[in-house]
Amino acid sequence: MSVERSVGKALVTGASRGLGAVIAERLAADGWHVLLNYAHDTAGASAVAGRVRAQGHSIEIVKFDVTSEEEVAAALAAAGPIAVVVNNATGPQPEIPVEDQTWDDHLDQLKFFVKAPLLILQAVLPGMKEAGTGRIINIGSEVADLGNPEFAQYVAAKMAMHGLTRSWARALGPFGITVNTVEPGWIPVERHADVAADSYESYTKTLALSHMGTPADVADTVAFFAADGSRFVTGQRIAVNGGKTMS
Ligand SMILES: NC(=O)c1ccc[n+]([C@@H]2O[C@H](COP(=O)([O-])OP(=O)(O)OC[C@H]3O[C@@H](n4cnc5c(N)ncnc54)[C@H](OP(=O)(O)O)[C@@H]3O)[C@@H](O)[C@H]2O)c1
Repeated sequence: MSVERSVGKALVTGASRGLGAVIAERLAADGWHVLLNYAHDTAGASAVAGRVRAQGHSIEIVKFDVTSEEEVAAALAAAGPIAVVVNNATGPQPEIPVEDQTWDDHLDQLKFFVKAPLLILQAVLPGMKEAGTGRIINIGSEVADLGNPEFAQYVAAKMAMHGLTRSWARALGPFGITVNTVEPGWIPVERHADVAADSYESYTKTLALSHMGTPADVADTVAFFAADGSRFVTGQRIAVNGGKTMS
């Protein structure tokens, strides 16, 4: 996918490592001034920002807890107009048998995938409306389609996140704002360092493309949605999973 150079600020939540870090690096390379968000891992965030600056690109670190009303409001009021939001941050994703799942387990996921995107949208919306353009990119998951067992709290929250995409696409389209969901498959990042090789082998057997994806595969698709070339695409979800799911 080709992208055009753009000028403006792009917020990437949860970018101190994992997919968010690579998305931040990619958007910075595309010319966005990246706001790198994280909540805990200061060394990780600094390392990502250092790599971006070493390439001559533009980035600043914006530390806040995406689930905190006060912190989101304060950080984004200080940030100025934002053109692109990538809702990527996640907390722990435990697998829990359905008999043991509590409402709090569900809230733990909903606060990342519904509450945080809502708080952030409400903070950036006045600036996007004034600019007459904007991009909201929600990072979903293929498990929303697969319905993985012992994971209903995460699956349901990712489905709810795509509900935001659909409803916001209609509500915000008249203001030139597009909203889309990017659904990664299993993409190994730092937290998967201890996964056994045979797990990758059995997963890749289920893919049309027979090999594991990389964070760059996800970042390329996010970059497309951030760029002008996606201007007539909204309310959609696209799986970046080597053809594991097909719609
Ligand atoms: N990797 C995969 O296989 C995969 C597959 C499907 C979907 N996804 C989705 O892709 C996204 C990224 O996943 P990942 O695997 O890259 O996760 P990850 O490696 O665990 O990274 C999570 C990021 O979120 C940040 N974070 C955690 N709590 C936060 C908070 N309260 N406020 C702000 N930031 C916070 C973490 O930084 P701090 O600890 O510094 O706060 C970290 O930068 C998630 O939405 C996930 O559901 C991933």
